[in-house]
Amino acid sequence: MRNMTFCDIFSGAGLFSAGFVDHGFEPVLAIDISKEAIASYNRNLRDVGVTASVSGFDDIPQADVLIAGPPCQGFSTLGRQDPLDVRNDLALEVPRWAKASNAEVVVVENVPPFLSSQQWRRLAVMLEGQGYEIFTWLLDAVDYGTPQLRRRAFTIASKIGRFNAPAPHHERITAGDVLAREIPVGDELHRWPQPVGIAAQRIQLIPPRGDKRDLMRLAPELCPPSWTRVGCQATDVWGRVDPDQPLNTIRCTFQNPSKGRYLHPVENRTLSLREGARIQGVPDHWMFAGRPYPVARQIGNGVPVPLARAVAGAVRDAISKTEIKVAA
Ligand SMILES: C[S@@+](CC[C@H](N)C(=O)[O-])C[C@H]1O[C@@H](n2cnc3c(N)ncnc32)[C@H](O)[C@@H]1O
Repeated sequence: MRNMTFCDIFSGAGLFSAGFVDHGFEPVLAIDISKEAIASYNRNLRDVGVTASVSGFDDIPQADVLIAGPPCQGFSTLGRQDPLDVRNDLALEVPRWAKASNAEVVVVENVPPFLSSQQWRRLAVMLEGQGYEIFTWLLDAVDYGTPQLRRRAFTIASKIGRFNAPAPHHERITAGDVLAREIPVGDELHRWPQPVGIAAQRIQLIPPRGDKRDLMRLAPELCPPSWTRVGCQATDVWGRVDPDQPLNTIRCTFQNPSKGRYLHPVENRTLSLREGARIQGVPDHWMFAGRPYPVARQIGNGVPVPLARAVAGAVRDAISKTEIKVAA
């Protein structure tokens, strides 16, 4: 079987790419506007990453597959869901890249609300106009060997016919399964912001599996009035990870306890960058370029690697079957 090639636009540090590389696909180009993300890509995968905007770029190589993870902030329920967010239109770069690269299969990953956006409808019409058949998969990373609940929409544009989504795994893994593995002394990514002041006082009081509700009960003097005013709607904040469950979706802000259930199950700190990477299924030999927040962004932005691998496997099987049929 020949090596299949792919191009990754909005590649980030390459978590989506990693799934394709694991299935024997060769990346010919990865492009992202973040220089740290591209430095990580080039270090961990192949040295084909370029730092540039997808929009102005014309030197597009030929590839069997085009994968794309355009920014999702304008569509995400965790963001402002702003239909006027200028980043939303970046998804419409995909048809130009599909045409120039001559890809047989295009895979666009985003948050589920993307599928109801006007950008998605325009994207689908443009790709259909180029002869692609369009179908979508809604997949949850927890069903594919990731210790995380993370639903993502995959839009497939295919010139080789419709093919099936990957079959879910039978067993789920938990946060505890990956956090319990030893981290070697000296791993530069095993770091977290040292909590100080009121944050340190709060964290010390939060029991295993607890969250801000425990703080309101145990130490109301450490809780701002806004917590009482808005009730307990955002209950997951200042929460400790439950080691017996998968994590909720990990975000770029996972080293900020006020943003979710990101405190270590028993230690008085947030998850380290390495632990966050493990929750995304990133292999431990990966290193990321940049200061802690840009690194957390590369991790939190990515497609969980086991989910990426499952999607890549389905694409590879579909292309292989088509080639066998053509050869027969
Ligand atoms: C959702 S993340 C992609 C994550 C990636 N697919 C992964 O799995 O690691 C979106 C990426 O788009 C990049 N980006 C935003 N605007 C861009 C532009 N105009 N051109 C290229 N990349 C852009 C961001 O830097 C970010 O890395």
